Amino acid sequence: MAKYVLAIDQGTTSSRAIVFDKAGSIISTGQLEHEQILPQAGWVEHDPKEIWDNTREAIGQALSKANITRHDIEAIGITNQRETAVVWDKNTGVPVYNAIVWQDTRTQPIVDRLAADGGVERFKGKVGLPLATYFSGTKIVWILENVEGARAKADAGDLLFGTTDSWVLWNLTGGIEGGVHATDVTNASRTMFMDLETLQWDDEILAIFDVPKSMLPEIKSSSEVYGIASGHSLLREVPIAGILGDQQAATFGQAAFDQGEAKNTYGTGNFLIFNTGTEIIHSKNGLLTTVGYKLGDAPVHYALEGSIAVTGSLVQWMRDQLGIIKNASEIEDLAKTVKDNGGAYFVPAFSGLFAPYWRSDARGALVGLTRYVNKGHIARAALEAIAYQTREVLDAVNADSGVPLTELKVDGGATANDLLMQFQADIIGVPVVRPVVAETTALGAAYAAGLAVGFWSGLDDLRANWQEDSRWEPSMDKDEADRLLRNWKKAVTKTLDWVDEDVR
Ligand SMILES: Nc1ncnc2c1ncn2[C@@H]1O[C@H](COP(=O)(O)OP(=O)(O)OP(=O)(O)O)[C@@H](O)[C@H]1O
Ligand SMILES: [Mg+2]
Repeated sequence: MAKYVLAIDQGTTSSRAIVFDKAGSIISTGQLEHEQILPQAGWVEHDPKEIWDNTREAIGQALSKANITRHDIEAIGITNQRETAVVWDKNTGVPVYNAIVWQDTRTQPIVDRLAADGGVERFKGKVGLPLATYFSGTKIVWILENVEGARAKADAGDLLFGTTDSWVLWNLTGGIEGGVHATDVTNASRTMFMDLETLQWDDEILAIFDVPKSMLPEIKSSSEVYGIASGHSLLREVPIAGILGDQQAATFGQAAFDQGEAKNTYGTGNFLIFNTGTEIIHSKNGLLTTVGYKLGDAPVHYALEGSIAVTGSLVQWMRDQLGIIKNASEIEDLAKTVKDNGGAYFVPAFSGLFAPYWRSDARGALVGLTRYVNKGHIARAALEAIAYQTREVLDAVNADSGVPLTELKVDGGATANDLLMQFQADIIGVPVVRPVVAETTALGAAYAAGLAVGFWSGLDDLRANWQEDSRWEPSMDKDEADRLLRNWKKAVTKTLDWVDEDVR
């Protein structure tokens, strides 16, 4: 048995390759950011070719930094930004359009059209999701309707669709020379097309969306051998044995395997996932029902999810669009120049509001401004927004489950921000806990792959790897936390009903 497992983390902002050992420790990392293509308001695209090039280069970096070769890698796991839709020609391997990213809101007219008969919840019972621009389904429809020649090619069986797990898997296993076209149940559960009970594509919904089934990848479990890396790859002959959507991967990497366990990831967006075991639970409080994981032939685990579109990307926005910080970590020092938010609240409804509101008519707002407010307050308001949004999603999870979480396991890039983590604990009133390996997304994918090939013998091996690194205890007076939260909720109301015929 080789000593390591390699995870590919194809994220929204970057592609990473991380080598893990049996203890779940990071041996080396390769990482490259890709361009965020913003052609017009509300549109967000990635170049799939750049993503595949970066993925290969990241693998090369990770191997060379650790001074190892493919012979040291037992298996490959893939995790990915979910919902982002790639459509490519299976004969040439060339995408017919850029990847349409999960944050992209261009498909609102398609959502409205589909919701005209039966409302946005018309498929929720079957797929666990409301109709929304977020999920891949309407993005595929947009490509078929708007890219010249796409519909005819799709009908002829020449086009393939995939989220970026499938795009990477297909290319890694040879592309036009026999590439494997598959996905796992967690990614499939984010399309709007998979029946949560049968774990199969639903013909009725596909007919309503008018998407040919021939485009879709085969749905597999999250942990099995899907294929072998092709001869052209640095990792040739290594099996690809795990796929999990990034948020489910982070849950798995946090060892939240059982019913009642949860985690919250602070990345581009925030995603709180609550494991509901083998039971499908439909939320009464604005959460999604989704697949947690499925290991080979073992029963599937479901989850409730609170998705928040804009959290870390608000920090990036302050860096790239406003230029008031040079890198993400500077926001903490800027926020520390003031003692509170100075009355300012920043609701980053850049893609509308996701959980628990699901309001596509909302747009971002910075409210409560007076002449007193300076850039320190705005930095603080941005960080606080991350915490308030998390509080609202946590309230929804607690209400749905009936058993409030007694602590919150966290991970992701923004958990490096101490001020944010302390404020988070203050606003939710329970401790916030971060494990030693904060790269839980990649770790979860490595775990899924390693389990499939016997690198790890079972879930207990993985539980034993989890170790606490940091813990933040709530210290704010409860009345003050409640007052801040009331103001936040008031601020949210100011962002609603913004989009109408006059707004494009
Ligand atoms: N010190 C910090 N304070 C606040 N936010 C931070 C800090 N460091 C990083 N971030 C934010 O965290 C995000 C990066 O976190 P992470 O690397 O987990 O992202 P990611 O979500 O995995 O990326 P991707 O979406 O590509 O998967 C960025 O949006 C960045 O703005
Ligand atoms: Mg990520």
